[in-house]
Amino acid sequence: MSGSRCTFTVNGEEIQANVGDTLVEAALGGRIVLPHDCCTGTCETCRVRVVSGEIDDIGTAEKGTVLGCLSVLQGDAEITFDPVPLVSTIKGKVETIRDISPGYLEVRVRMEKKFTWLAGQYIRATFAGFPSRDYSPTTPLALDAEEDVLLFHIKIYPNSIVSSQFNNKIKPGHDVKIKGPFGNGFIRNQPEPMLLTSTGTGFAPIWAIAVSAVLGQPSRELKMIVGARETEGLYMKEAIRWLRNRGVDVLVTASDGDGAQVLTERPYELIQGLTEDHVVYSAGAPSHVEATRQVARMAGATFYADPFFVAEKSSSLSGLVSSFFSKLKSPFSPPPQDPDQN
Ligand code: FES
Repeated sequence: MSGSRCTFTVNGEEIQANVGDTLVEAALGGRIVLPHDCCTGTCETCRVRVVSGEIDDIGTAEKGTVLGCLSVLQGDAEITFDPVPLVSTIKGKVETIRDISPGYLEVRVRMEKKFTWLAGQYIRATFAGFPSRDYSPTTPLALDAEEDVLLFHIKIYPNSIVSSQFNNKIKPGHDVKIKGPFGNGFIRNQPEPMLLTSTGTGFAPIWAIAVSAVLGQPSRELKMIVGARETEGLYMKEAIRWLRNRGVDVLVTASDGDGAQVLTERPYELIQGLTEDHVVYSAGAPSHVEATRQVARMAGATFYADPFFVAEKSSSLSGLVSSFFSKLKSPFSPPPQDPDQN
């Protein structure tokens, strides 16, 4: 009942909270920062595991987890969440802008100090004079990472406010402010087999996760499906070669593929053998992410998504599925909402 108090246990720490508060609010009241960003149910940063208790998940429940920014306490409850780096804001400068394929850039930012993030998380970048954009840092294709350097894969959209300005108004030496990291789609140290899927520059977080898994969890089963709208967008051939040389099963697909080296199916159509033991990560075009989410959900697999463009959350998701598939023209389509991202 609203107005009454309850005991809220967060990662083993007990605090007193108001019934009716969201989990994020309740935690903050006890001086615990529950990771969050949008607070509107979109970014997934606040997804927490419910151990026990009375929580109204507001339709956000998924495999024992709920969104902390929407779910409210109805009585005593206990939750846990994975530790993540604290959110900070650090300045940096664009160091290099490199073409990696027609229409795709690798932007390298040298930070004033080390910026800590987990593979699969995203950050908010503000290039001086331009509005903020969310990007996923990635691992260099040549694997020569430096701890005070952030690297992004960026697709240029001709009429976009930010991406069209790289090598125009945004050049090496341009000031940038980075805030983050955010997001729930980061790699965990788990034994379960993993499927990674991406389209377009959604490859950035997926590649970071893959490298982290190959180097840090070498016995973990890993499969990947990498898509691009057209073969021209397959800027990551070098990375795919590296992964295959280490035994990773990588399927590559594009709408104009040859059907052999580069398949032509939609990425989600290539998913096979998924079980509830699998952990699936997906990033890229929203139609791709949502289709993959549905395949994962049907198999009972654990699913983590690139947070960009994830449409409505679970409360209305089941109703969305059929309309989503009926609207699905191409999983390779660029996002209509904001041409700067992914
Ligand atoms: S903070 Fe809850 S979904 Fe973004």
